[in-house]
Amino acid sequence: MRVAVAGGTGVVGVKTVDAVRASGHEPVVLSRSAGVDLLAAGTDDREAERLARTLDGCAAVVDVTSVMTTSAAKSTAFFETVTRALLTAERAAGVPHHVALSIIGAEAAPAAYYAGKAAQERAVMASGTGWTLLRATQFHEFAAQLAARGGGIHLVPAMRSQPVAAAEVGVRLAELATADPSGVSRDLAGPRVEDMPTLVRRYLAATGRAARVLALPLPGRWGRALRDGTLLPGPDAQLGTATFDEWLATAAHP
Ligand SMILES: NC(=O)c1ccc[n+]([C@@H]2O[C@H](COP(=O)([O-])OP(=O)(O)OC[C@H]3O[C@@H](n4cnc5c(N)ncnc54)[C@H](OP(=O)(O)O)[C@@H]3O)[C@@H](O)[C@H]2O)c1
Repeated sequence: MRVAVAGGTGVVGVKTVDAVRASGHEPVVLSRSAGVDLLAAGTDDREAERLARTLDGCAAVVDVTSVMTTSAAKSTAFFETVTRALLTAERAAGVPHHVALSIIGAEAAPAAYYAGKAAQERAVMASGTGWTLLRATQFHEFAAQLAARGGGIHLVPAMRSQPVAAAEVGVRLAELATADPSGVSRDLAGPRVEDMPTLVRRYLAATGRAARVLALPLPGRWGRALRDGTLLPGPDAQLGTATFDEWLATAAHP
């Protein structure tokens, strides 16, 4: 089975591509560095036709693209355009299954970056095509993504999270993509609740970088959601087994 992975070069994308291949299927990577700009395909007819040709013979498309922004408008424009481009090309190429990865709590706190994730969820659910939506918590790798943004002092949002290994999310996405469309899937989270600024501090220390980490309580509804448990999984969630400590041991000494 051919499975396209949009964002297949990103943090969870490479894990998804590995998992698709490990399960005996053929991954097709869609990303700018692989020669496919999905924003261009959402606005330019020739790019849209080229994308549809690339999807020829695919049984599913997994969307794990992302944009680095805390602007609700930019996030919404990105996820709406990419989702529209993929769904249009899937219809043209006869791809029967669209799989999207979202974040637990995005629809309850649709602000800043999460506004785009909530818009993506709505577009997928209204698409009329076969779809599957997986909501996950932050990845263990999110601590490294936050650490990459700071300099000598890191301002990290005060945030409670139950992070999961991106590798476990990739395996689940590959399972979902190679099965029939199933709508909203069981949420996926990691094994324990953690404090995000502490994880960033520990990641920086483990990778030998002397930097101060300050926990920043963000204002407004989004800031409250980061702190008050909105992003934590419910009792029915599927839990991964890899802990942050286990991930950190391999991330710090690959
Ligand atoms: N990080 C987390 O903790 C977390 C937790 C739960 C859910 N998620 C969701 O998981 C998804 C992936 O997150 P991530 O952290 O793995 O992202 P990431 O590492 O930032 O990777 C983003 C991917 O999107 C591709 N991309 C960006 N713009 C593109 C464009 N115009 N056309 C084609 N490809 C484009 C990038 O490749 P190029 O740069 O080569 O184009 C890259 O492969 C996101 O939807 C995010 O909301 C993330």
